[in-house]
Amino acid sequence: MSDQITLRQPDDWHLHLRDGKLLESVVGYTSCVFRRAIIMPNLTPPITTIQGAKHYRQRILDSVPAGISFTPLMTIYLTDDLSPKVLEEGFVQNVFTAAKLYPANSTTNSAEGVSDINAINSLFETMERIDMPLLIHGEDMDPNVDVFDREAVFIDRHLQPVLKRFPRLRVVLEHITTEHAVDFVETSTYNLAATITPHHLHLNRNAMFLGGLRSDFYCLPVIKRESHRIALRRAATSGKSCFFLGTDSAPHMRGAKESSCSCAGIFNSPYALESYAEVFEEEGALDKLESFCSEFGPAFYRLPLNKGSITLIRKKQMIPQFIYLDNERKHQESIVPFHAGEYLNWSVLTQAN
Ligand code: DOR
Ligand code: ZN
Repeated sequence: MSDQITLRQPDDWHLHLRDGKLLESVVGYTSCVFRRAIIMPNLTPPITTIQGAKHYRQRILDSVPAGISFTPLMTIYLTDDLSPKVLEEGFVQNVFTAAKLYPANSTTNSAEGVSDINAINSLFETMERIDMPLLIHGEDMDPNVDVFDREAVFIDRHLQPVLKRFPRLRVVLEHITTEHAVDFVETSTYNLAATITPHHLHLNRNAMFLGGLRSDFYCLPVIKRESHRIALRRAATSGKSCFFLGTDSAPHMRGAKESSCSCAGIFNSPYALESYAEVFEEEGALDKLESFCSEFGPAFYRLPLNKGSITLIRKKQMIPQFIYLDNERKHQESIVPFHAGEYLNWSVLTQAN
């Protein structure tokens, strides 16, 4: 049994960095491990312009700790009235790497998302023509659909028809949570891939109700029953290039989580690589960790592989209960990291840029 794993430096293909003080506090957790990340645009207000994305990219770069090489790959937030011209210009100018589709009101800061997917065909047409990846939060928001069925219904009602209409469109179904999504992606003949989060690999829905209502485990799409977790583990460790790493690390301050209407999101970036390593080891698939973390994502996005490497060692570490944003250590402004209070068996040792 190996006690050390050296990987090509990984990328995070789905990340929320927020803005302001929160951005400054969290970006270092990602940039000390990951070389690049796809940055989600669901700020308030969302990133819907080229200028907005450029400025946000600069604020991210200004917050990265000195001496670290980190490339934020920006995305634009699709709305009902976004112009295809903005999409194309931003992509051609290398400002946007991809576009993000949030069905309206599906998750945090998605009120301005797309209210009718059939009404944005001109955006899909443009993206297909210029070969710009479409990243999808795949949940159907019809109030008659059960919250646990939203992903499966979205796939059947929306994803399948969109792929049929735009067969060359490159699509990532983000943070998949169900066996249906796994089957759909792995048997698809379209340019379709999926990201998988650490929390959906570790938890089933019981976690949200363990001894009370546990908002620390509430995220969207909501965590599903055990059979789905097993399917996701099989997909992530399968060595199939259509499944790759995307943490969906989504920090919310304690004040917003400890509420009768708690925000969705799990902050996993501080120990994300260790968390994935744990899953791959439990599945007897450590030999597949590198391709999932560092190779399949760049291949899908048609970007070069990273040159640096990072080493994990088998060393137990205790995950803290809270991460504080500054020295004032205010409870309301702390964030609970994923795995808080647990031990993880692996630790990141070195990063070589
Ligand atoms: O749990 C989530 N949190 N899911 C999302 O889709 C958005 C994210 C956030 O921005 O907080
Ligand atoms: Zn997300």
